[in-house]
Amino acid sequence: MADAVQTPQIETGKFTPRVFSGIQPSGGLTLGNYLGAIKRFVEMQESGIETVYCIVDLHAITVWQDPDKLRHATRELCAGYIAAGLDPQKSILFNQSQVSAHAELGWVFSCVARIGWLNRMTQFKDKAGKNRENASVGLFSYPTLMAADILLYHATHVPVGEDQKQHLELTRDVAAKFNHDFKTDFFPLPEPVIEGVATRVMSLRDGSKKMSKSDPSDMSRINMTDDADTIAKKIRKAKTDPDALPSEAEGLKERPEAKNLVSIYASLADMSVNQVLAEVGGKQFSAFKPMLSELAVAKLSPISAEMDRLMQTPDEIDKILRNGADKARAIASPILDKTLEIVGMVR
Ligand code: AMP
Ligand code: TRP
Repeated sequence: MADAVQTPQIETGKFTPRVFSGIQPSGGLTLGNYLGAIKRFVEMQESGIETVYCIVDLHAITVWQDPDKLRHATRELCAGYIAAGLDPQKSILFNQSQVSAHAELGWVFSCVARIGWLNRMTQFKDKAGKNRENASVGLFSYPTLMAADILLYHATHVPVGEDQKQHLELTRDVAAKFNHDFKTDFFPLPEPVIEGVATRVMSLRDGSKKMSKSDPSDMSRINMTDDADTIAKKIRKAKTDPDALPSEAEGLKERPEAKNLVSIYASLADMSVNQVLAEVGGKQFSAFKPMLSELAVAKLSPISAEMDRLMQTPDEIDKILRNGADKARAIASPILDKTLEIVGMVR
């Protein structure tokens, strides 16, 4: 319900359950984003908990983004959220840069977090690569802004894919250090929610690499905007091994590509891996891949068609984001104010 947004009971230190998560508008959405994150976002929305879902454009610019492409990707991600089942009447949907409190709290947290903590972040090491000296300062301090995103709403639960676990731990460390340093219990320690059979969807070309929008090979991923033929082609060409499928999950150990395709099937069909294998155990990939293609097309085509439809009216999308930002600000502002007061800023 649009009007049911409550500000947290910031004086009592008791935290109402609230979900927060975000995705970067740094390219198209992949099947990994959908199964690892957005599908969970929708389930949490339907569970009746208050849900806040952000398009983290400030995070996106930690690496170079062409301005026009960034605007397009932001609207497209919003369209993806809605097409996949997020409802702006039930969840707060907005882009991060419209709520300036994110950047302000991010600054405070960059003074709480320690350089040693950030030095341990594997995503920075992966993204910065060998040329660390040339990475942006923002890419390094990225997790402090992420901690601000979450704690600005006193969020208690954060649905994410497996790759974000370390950032969530850092968020908890920031909250704990702030509470300790200022002798308060103002910030909750949010719980990561890393659930489901597809918390780490792997590349279709290499079962040891995560499916990612930044992989140079488009054949490595399924994009939410791929048409039926493209999806079928990518699945047909996906790397596999020569063996038949096992009849139990145990048999997928040491078979990363097989495990990945079966997990994708299970997640799309809302089944467990063992339930899928009970049906397809003994089949060759030549028989399983067409089944997977058919299921993927059946589940993803309506979403991409709806994304297309929504993208016809970008003004409507912008309006949804502005309304969402207003609601987000109503929660965030008092929490930022209180934080600054705790820190000792004259108000
Ligand atoms: P990003 O695209 O990096 O902003 O990620 C947005 C969300 O999608 C995060 O919760 C990620 O953990 C999740 N995600 C991204 N790639 C994958 C993947 N290959 N498998 C599962 N979850 C993923
Ligand atoms: N770091 C996340 C990613 O790359 C995106 C993100 C930014 C996020 N802020 C967040 C996720 C807050 C959850 C909560 O996927």
